[in-house]
Amino acid sequence: MANASDTILTVENMSVEFPTLSGITSAVRNVSFSIGREKVGIIGESGSGKSTTGRAIMRLQPPKAIVKADRMQFEDVDLLKASEDEMLAIRGRRIAMILQDPKYSLNPVMTVGEQISETVILHERVSPREARERTLAMLGRVNIRDPERVFDLYPHEVSGGMGQRIMISMMLIASPSLIIADEPTSALDVTVRQQVLSILDELVIERNIGLLFISHDLNLVRSFCDRVIIMYAGRVVETIAAADLDQAKHPYTRGLLNALPSLNHPRDRLDVLQRDPAWLEN
Ligand SMILES: Nc1ncnc2c1ncn2[C@@H]1O[C@H](COP(=O)(O)OP(=O)(O)O)[C@@H](O)[C@H]1O
Ligand SMILES: [Mg+2]
Repeated sequence: MANASDTILTVENMSVEFPTLSGITSAVRNVSFSIGREKVGIIGESGSGKSTTGRAIMRLQPPKAIVKADRMQFEDVDLLKASEDEMLAIRGRRIAMILQDPKYSLNPVMTVGEQISETVILHERVSPREARERTLAMLGRVNIRDPERVFDLYPHEVSGGMGQRIMISMMLIASPSLIIADEPTSALDVTVRQQVLSILDELVIERNIGLLFISHDLNLVRSFCDRVIIMYAGRVVETIAAADLDQAKHPYTRGLLNALPSLNHPRDRLDVLQRDPAWLEN
């Protein structure tokens, strides 16, 4: 677990509400966690508030959303007080986000190479010619075999796995200290998923940074992350080292573990998750 000097992000008692026509939706309630130089997973079923949590850190909520917290501290930045201009300087540079479909994060009317070069020029103030060389090197660094060809492709022409590697190559240039990855491999085939995960893993270790990895796949998070935050109905029910998941105490976590199919202990049918209204009490 991270010690204090290694803490990159601290969130204390964060809640997010959305006013809707039928009343107020409480998407996230009193969530607290911190992230150091480690891989932290957020796991929970659809609608449990994982994406809302990630977006609230980036301050990318719709304007009507109500975000409250006792503390949201990213390095030397108080995220509760930062101006929109300050947030513009933080997003993408100091906190980067990878989403499920890279097509939404890449600019559709610019080639892959132009986009990466633009990031290189912005961060390293080099000539366009040098930026091209650096871009080709970055594409090679994320195991793209034919960088010259990929340089001239538009986002709609690249596969999902290649798109995620392009997003990661931009992070190599921007050098953020926190990456929020929201289901970054959920749309990928198993073999491609493994490649993207190992490149992401190398990036986190090589740069000694923090990763918040949002997923609904407990098996994946268990093998990939150092710690796991388990969310249920907008709340954090348990935070536990991935290696200790077998000793998880909360009945919801136990239910998730029991619901996982196992090759070693095949069963005719999987357990149905039992829910207890008491989990919703604070
Ligand atoms: N813009 C929004 N307006 C209203 N409700 C929202 C909005 N975004 C998310 N929600 C609600 O917040 C809850 C949590 O959603 P979300 O964070 O996307 O869950 P997850 O990522 O775990 O699937 C859900 O009930 C969802 O319907
Ligand atoms: Mg989500």
